[in-house]
Amino acid sequence: MTFQIETLAAPAVRGIAPYLPGKPLEELEREYGISNCIKLASNENPLGPGPRALAAMEQAVREIGLYPDGSGFALKQALAKKHDCAMECITLGNGSNDVLVMLAEAFLTGGCAPELKRGPEGIPGETGGHASARGTPRETPATEAVYSQYAFAVYPIAVQATGATARVAPANPANHAMPLGHDLDAMAQLVNERTRLVFIANPNNPTGTWLSAEALRKFIAGVPAQTLVVVDEAYIEYVTDPAFPNASRWLQDFPNLVVVRTFSKAYGLAGLRVGYALSHAGVADMLNRVRQPFNVNSVALAAARAALEDDQHLQRTLNTNRTGLAQLQAGFDVLGIRHLPSAGNFVLIDCGRPAAPVYETMLRQGVIVRPVGNYQLPDHLRITIGTQAQNERMLSALNTALSS
Ligand SMILES: Cc1ncc(COP(=O)(O)O)c(C=O)c1O
Repeated sequence: MTFQIETLAAPAVRGIAPYLPGKPLEELEREYGISNCIKLASNENPLGPGPRALAAMEQAVREIGLYPDGSGFALKQALAKKHDCAMECITLGNGSNDVLVMLAEAFLTGGCAPELKRGPEGIPGETGGHASARGTPRETPATEAVYSQYAFAVYPIAVQATGATARVAPANPANHAMPLGHDLDAMAQLVNERTRLVFIANPNNPTGTWLSAEALRKFIAGVPAQTLVVVDEAYIEYVTDPAFPNASRWLQDFPNLVVVRTFSKAYGLAGLRVGYALSHAGVADMLNRVRQPFNVNSVALAAARAALEDDQHLQRTLNTNRTGLAQLQAGFDVLGIRHLPSAGNFVLIDCGRPAAPVYETMLRQGVIVRPVGNYQLPDHLRITIGTQAQNERMLSALNTALSS
C-alpha cells in the first residue's frame, strides 16, 4: 500500500510554502563547529527579558503542575488598564502569530464546499455542510483577505490554510520614500464585498517601513463594515516619532478594527510566546471560539504581566535600539550599502548582488542574519539591531562578506 500524504492533506494546505524561521544559534554552532555566535535574525530583544519578568517566571514555574488560567484574567486586566478598554475586547494568543491564525480561522472560508442552509425550522446541528442538513445546497464563494507584497510572511500562510483567496497588493516602488512599503491605495482597490480581512503591519516586517496616521486612518475609514482591518503593531514600542499612529486609540471609532500586539519584541519574551488582539468585544467573542483552551501557558501569563510593569527595562531596550539603529545606519553608509528606513528593531539592506553568498560568509564568521529570498527579495538581508558590540561584529562580518 502506498502512502501518499500529498493526497491526504487539505488542498489549501498542500500549496502552502512553510514559514522559514531565522537559523537557531545551536544549529549554526553544531553545523559549523564554531562557538560564540550571535543571532540578529529574528528581531528578538538583545537584552532579553527584564528582571521583573524573570522573577515572575521563576515564581510561576513552581506552579507548573496546574493548568494556566485559561481566561488569562490577570494579564487581560493589566492590558485593559494599559489600553483603557474592556477586558472583553482582548484576545490572548500563543504569540501574536496565534492571534493572526485565529483571525483567519474565525473570519475566512474556502469556497469549494457547497454550503447547506439551515432549514426553515432551524433544526440545531443541521447547518454548515452536514449531509443530514435540510434546505438547498448553495455554492459559497471563498472569502478574501488583502495584504501587501512584502508584508509579514505569516499572513499568506494563515490565509491559505483556510482556503480563502489572498489578494496581494503591489508594494511601493524601490525609489519611494517608504520603499517596498504598503501602498494603501493599491490595497483599497482590492477590497470588495467578499473581503473579510485586511492585514497591515505598521511598522512592517521585513521592510521596516511605516504608514502615517493620516493615511492609515483614512484607509480604515474607507473600508466597508464587513471587512476587518487588522493593524499588526508588533514593533510599535520601538517607534520614536510622536506622530506615529497608535491604532489601539481608534478602536472606539471603528468596530471593524483589530489591533495586534506582542510581547516577543520590545518586552523580550519571544521564547515564551505571548501576544494579543484588541478589538470590538464581538470580534473577540468570535476569536475566543476558535482559541485553543489554555493557549497561553502560565509562565508566559505571569511574565507578560510583570513585563508590563517594568518600564525601566522597556526604556533600556528602546535606548539600545535607538543608538543601535543609528550605529547600523552609519555603518551601512560607510560600507556604501543601501538600507531602507526603519521604525522597528531591524533594518533591511540591499546588498546590490545575490544576498545568499553574503549570508553564508557571515554565518561562517558566526553571525546569523536573515535572508529574505522567501519574500522574493533575493538581494536583501534583514538585520536585527543588537547590542553595540553585536552590531560592531555584524558590520565587520558584513564588510568581510562584501569584500570577498
Ligand atoms: C509584523 C509581525 N507580526 C507578528 C509577528 C509574530 O510575533 P510573535 O508570534 O512572536 O508574537 C512578527 C514576528 O516576527 C512580526 O514581525
